[in-house]
Amino acid sequence: MIPGTRVRSVKVENLKNGLFVTGTDTGVGKTLVTAGLVRFARIQGRRCVAIKPVETGCPVRSGMLHPEDGVFLMEASESDLSLDECAPFRFSLPAAPARAAAMEGSRIFLSDLVEHVQAVAESRDFVIAEGAGGLMVPIEDRLMMIDLVERLGCPVLLVARSRLGTINHTLLSVEALRRRDLEIAGIILSGHDEESGPEERYTRRDVERLVGDTPVTVLPYLGHEITTNPAKIAESMAEACGASLLRRWTGLETQH
Ligand SMILES: Nc1ncnc2c1ncn2[C@@H]1O[C@H](COP(=O)(O)OP(=O)(O)OP(=O)(O)O)[C@@H](O)[C@H]1O
Ligand SMILES: [Mg+2]
Repeated sequence: MIPGTRVRSVKVENLKNGLFVTGTDTGVGKTLVTAGLVRFARIQGRRCVAIKPVETGCPVRSGMLHPEDGVFLMEASESDLSLDECAPFRFSLPAAPARAAAMEGSRIFLSDLVEHVQAVAESRDFVIAEGAGGLMVPIEDRLMMIDLVERLGCPVLLVARSRLGTINHTLLSVEALRRRDLEIAGIILSGHDEESGPEERYTRRDVERLVGDTPVTVLPYLGHEITTNPAKIAESMAEACGASLLRRWTGLETQH
C-alpha cells in the first residue's frame, strides 16, 4: 500500500527457501547481483534458480517481447527453468509494472506473482527473485513492490549505487522495510564508475553505522568481461562480500 494507507490483512506466505533482491532505484545492479548469487549457489551444488517475476521495458525481438533481465537470469540459473518460469509477466513499456500493464489494456494481480514465486520455489532448493525498480513501485492499484516482499515473507537483499546520494536512498529503503518488520539480509553498494568519488571511501562505514546490525558490502566496479559472465560475477562477489555471506544469503548457511 502507499504510505499511510496500510491495512494489516495481508496473508504472509513465509517463503523459507527464498531471497528477494530489491534496489534503491532502477539500474542499480540488482540483476548483476542476482545473477552472481544464483551462480554462486549452483557452483556450491545447490539447485537454486533466479527469476524476475515482472519485467517491463522488454524490446521486441523476432516478433516477441524479450525480457533482458529474465534471459540473463535464466542463463545464470544454467537454464534450470524455462523463460516463462523465469520471467512470466513481460511488458513492453519501460514503466512501473502497473502502468506498463495498463498501457496494454491489462493488469497484474499481486497474488499471481506471489503464487508464481512459490510454485518455482516448491520444486527447487532455493529461489532468488529480482524486483522491478525499487520498493515503492506500483504493481496493482495501491499495492507496491514492497507488498510483494511482505506477502512472500522472505529476507531482502538491498542493492544500491556506491556513489553520492546513496546514504539517503539506502536509509529510506531500510526504513520502509523496517516499518513492516521485513528482514534485511544485507546491503550491497555496487560501483558504477571506474573511478570512485572521494566520499565513497566512507560510504560503506557510514551506511553500516547508521543501519546497524546488517551486513553492508561494496561490490567494486567490474569490467564488461565480468558483468556479462555469471560465473565471473559470482567469483567477484565472493571476493568482495565473502563466501560466508553469500552462503547465508542463498540459504546454504544459517546465521550464528
Ligand atoms: N559493480 C558494477 N560494476 C560494473 N557495472 C555495474 C556494476 N553494478 C551494476 N553495473 C552495471 O549497471 C547496469 C545496471 O545494472 P543492472 O542491470 O544489474 O541494474 P538493475 O537494478 O537490475 O536494473 P533494472 O531496474 O532495470 O532491473 C548494468 O549495465 C550493469 O552491468
Ligand atoms: Mg534488473
